[in-house]
Formats: sequence, structure tokens, C-alpha cells
Amino acid sequence: MREDIYDFEVGKKGQEGLDILDIMFNPHTKRCLEHAGLKPGMRVLDIGCGRGAMSLWLAQKVGVTGNVIAIDNSENQINATIDLTKAQAPKWLHFKVHSAYDIEKLTESVDFVYCRFILHHLNNPTQVIEKVYELLPKGGIFVAEEGVVSAAFTYPKVAAWGQERTDARYPHDTEGEDRDGNFGMKLHHQMKQTGFEIHYADLYQPLLYTNEQKQLLGGPAREGYKQYALAHGISEKEWEKNAKELDNLIANPAGVIGFYQSCLVVGRK
Ligand SMILES: C[S@@+](CC[C@H](N)C(=O)[O-])C[C@H]1O[C@@H](n2cnc3c(N)ncnc32)[C@H](O)[C@@H]1O
Repeated sequence: MREDIYDFEVGKKGQEGLDILDIMFNPHTKRCLEHAGLKPGMRVLDIGCGRGAMSLWLAQKVGVTGNVIAIDNSENQINATIDLTKAQAPKWLHFKVHSAYDIEKLTESVDFVYCRFILHHLNNPTQVIEKVYELLPKGGIFVAEEGVVSAAFTYPKVAAWGQERTDARYPHDTEGEDRDGNFGMKLHHQMKQTGFEIHYADLYQPLLYTNEQKQLLGGPAREGYKQYALAHGISEKEWEKNAKELDNLIANPAGVIGFYQSCLVVGRK
């Protein structure tokens, strides 16, 4: 699979998919960022910012004396994000088309780096962790949050969610060859090996049990999952059958969905 092709839709059409991540993970992520020592006046780098909801929040937190550089390698995504956030973005928040692999070329100094659900989309995530380490001054903080995609499940079991991912449960070392949807499992190890002093780590998994929560996997976001499934060899007919099963589970008041697990690690240089 080509490294420069991101798995999901980006830009305006992809907003719905990223919106789900914001709804499910932002409260937990924000608590952890505050706990990690995010303060007014800090200079923050947000790598793989997507639709920028967390970048906006980071900018509010660091305030006028701080600075936030939010990068994404998709021009389409950055244009959509600038458009989406223009009414709220303060002047100390800058969105830039820039790759995670090129952060050493940034001219801004940073003392706090944050990234979520991007390393598990890269073939060389450890290279990016090493670059973050190089970029930070002594005492600088890195908060990374990455998926353990194979932890997704439903009960009762349906084929459209969780099942096709179980073979990825025990990852071999894909570094340099392919992306690892379970990179969250390795995050603590790789950050520690790179030299970070680990201050905090946790594992979080949203449990969708109300109809409103489960509907997050219906609606427009479903198209993203469909495209992903088709690209991974599922036939259109199979997908339609699976999607119907998922709809039945959503409609079943007793049905429950475990979204991806997210492993969050706070390191200090
Ligand atoms: C799953 S989204 C996560 C977005 C956001 N961090 C969040 O948690 O909602 C991953 C984002 O990483 C971006 N991305 C993928 N490869 C990248 C790279 N090499 N450098 C920078 N951004 C990248 C994608 O365009 C996408 O916006």
C-alpha cells in the first residue's frame, strides 16, 4: 500500500468521520493534555490536525502569549479546516500543509507537541517520534494518542465492526514497511526507547450504548467505513449485508459497540 495515501476521506467530505473522533475522544484527550502540563504561553505543535477541533482548543488554552502550529499533509484537509474554523481561530493559531516526516524543517520553536491518530497511519511512526524528540528542547512535552484498532467490538457480534480486524491483534513489526492500526500498543515502548521520560499513560475505549451514540456509526460516516472495507477486499454485496446487520445492532436497545481503544502516553524530554 502506498504510504502517501491516507486510509479515509479528507477535506470537506471527510469532516463527518473526524467529527466522530472529536465527539468520542476530545473530553478524555483534553483532560489528559491539561494533566500533562499544557499552560498559557506555550508553543504547541499539533501533528495531523485533521478538522482542527483540538487545535482550536489548544489555541484557547495557550492564549495570546502562546502559539499553535497545526499541520496536516493534506492540502485538501487544511483548506477545509481553515474554512471550518475561520470564525473562531485566533491569530496565534496557524494551519499549515506540512508532513509529519518533515517537522525538522519547521521554523517555529515549540515546547509542547501533540498528535492523535496519525502515527498509526504512517509506515515509519518511530521515525516521527524520534523527530519530535529532536525538535523539543530539554523539558519539552510530547503527548501522543494512538489507536488499538483491533480492540473494536460489538455485542451481539456483527461482521461490519471489529471482526475483520482481529487478525491484526498481535502485530508483527511493520516499522518501515506498512502502517500498524495497533501502533497504540507500541507507543509507550517506542517513546521510552527514543529517550522520553514517561510521565503518564492510559488506555481509553468509548462504549457506545445509547441509540444516539450508536448512530454515530450510521449516517454519513458510514460511507468512509464502506470505502475502507471495499478497499480491503470486501465486495459491495457483502458490505450491504454487513451494513444491514450493523443497523439492526444500532436499533437493538441492548446492543453495544466498543469503539477503537486509544492509548495515550505523555513523555518529557
Ligand atoms: C485519523 S485523522 C486524525 C485527525 C485529528 N488528529 C483527530 O484526532 O481528529 C489523521 C490525520 O492525519 C493526516 N495525515 C496522514 N498522514 C500524514 C502525514 N504524513 N503528515 C501529516 N498529517 C498526516 C490525515 O490527513 C488526517 O487528517
